[in-house]
Amino acid sequence: GEELAFLRPERFKAPSCFYSARSAVPPSGSKPGCRNSTSSSQAFFGPKASNSGTRKNLLCQHALSLAVQRHPRFQNLFNLSTPVLLSGDLFTQQLWDSLSQHKAPYGWQGLSHQAITSTLSLLNGSESTRLFAVSRELLPGCIRCAVVGNGGILNGSRQGQNIDAHDYVFRLNGAVIKGFENDVGTKISFYGFTVNTMKNSLISYSNVGFTSVPQGQHLRYIFIPSDIRDYLMLRSAILGVPVPEGTDKGDRPQTYFGPDSSASKFKLLHPDFISYLRERFLKSKLINTKFGDLYMPSTGALMLLTALHTCDQVSAYGFITSNYQKFSDHYFDRMKKPLIFYANHDLSLEATLWRDLHKAGILWLYQR
Ligand SMILES: *[C@@H]1O[C@H](CO)[C@@H](O)[C@H](O)[C@H]1NC(C)=O
Ligand SMILES: *[C@@H]1O[C@H](CO)[C@@H](O)[C@H](O)[C@H]1NC(C)=O
Ligand SMILES: *[C@@H]1O[C@H](CO)[C@@H](O)[C@H](O)[C@H]1NC(C)=O
Repeated sequence: GEELAFLRPERFKAPSCFYSARSAVPPSGSKPGCRNSTSSSQAFFGPKASNSGTRKNLLCQHALSLAVQRHPRFQNLFNLSTPVLLSGDLFTQQLWDSLSQHKAPYGWQGLSHQAITSTLSLLNGSESTRLFAVSRELLPGCIRCAVVGNGGILNGSRQGQNIDAHDYVFRLNGAVIKGFENDVGTKISFYGFTVNTMKNSLISYSNVGFTSVPQGQHLRYIFIPSDIRDYLMLRSAILGVPVPEGTDKGDRPQTYFGPDSSASKFKLLHPDFISYLRERFLKSKLINTKFGDLYMPSTGALMLLTALHTCDQVSAYGFITSNYQKFSDHYFDRMKKPLIFYANHDLSLEATLWRDLHKAGILWLYQR
């Protein structure tokens, strides 16, 4: 494995009043007067910059897009105009021809045209084109997101309130909440998964309480299209019918996602976005090995990079850090288990990326 440089934690203090300008009350425990103070967020997000970011949110003075613009390497990697989600209106013959040349999750090679088009035709409303219910131009201030990975670093972290103080909270796979509220919080705005990782999580982590996929009125599901299964489950979820064919035949999507089957509840990552992430941010050496076809960024990496392309400020909790060996694989493990590096992901490369993005002030990585 690759040796990771150790980050001196004192240089990277968590913003002490990291809560939304839109939330009515600051999270308990934040200092009085914190609301008007910009010093702590400035210390992390850097000095005020005079020009606006790529995304025209002039009311967010500490948008990550400014830190991206200032960074010699990352300014060439990020394209914040890249479409993150795939919706029906983006479907063209040209897109079909181009995506048919790549295997999932990067494309549609070998997948049924009818299954793809019938799924995408259901994602035809404007809410399918964007992650947030409100168009970002209408939102005052910064959109602050927390992405919560399932890493053992969160066990005993007492970060729950800090996590919940963000405007949007992303969670993924075996996101166990019950019994871990103090450490991981309870808020959940987005749940990201592939059908495979979701069902594996329900099997593997039921003994620690992950017996159902998170549900809620305001919760949105982010499908990662890693297989035809994801398109079939998504289509069935919106139609409110059992999955008609394939590995998940007969599954009732409501058992996973609850009774509300409106299309606005379900988002689909664009295969071109996943390719862009692999090429620019996570171009692993594994791609040129016999594991090349198996390789894809981890679910956590896809969610964190999704947040980085849609939010103004991003905090990452429960993601791999240089001292990962101190912690168990997951925060909910009953016994300490080492993190295992499987050949389908490149967690060393991901760790380096989070470290570098943190150093660049583009995200804030929880470390201890
Ligand atoms: C960024 O992405 C958009 C949308 O795909 C594209 O039109 C534009 O050319 C890209 N910009 C750069 C600098 O690559
Ligand atoms: C989307 O497609 C569905 C099914 O074809 C249709 O009922 C609905 O009116 C369409 N919605 C929009 C916004 O076009
Ligand atoms: C979780 O943290 C507690 C102390 O905070 C520790 O006793 C326990 O061993 C940890 N669990 C794992 C799986 O590491």
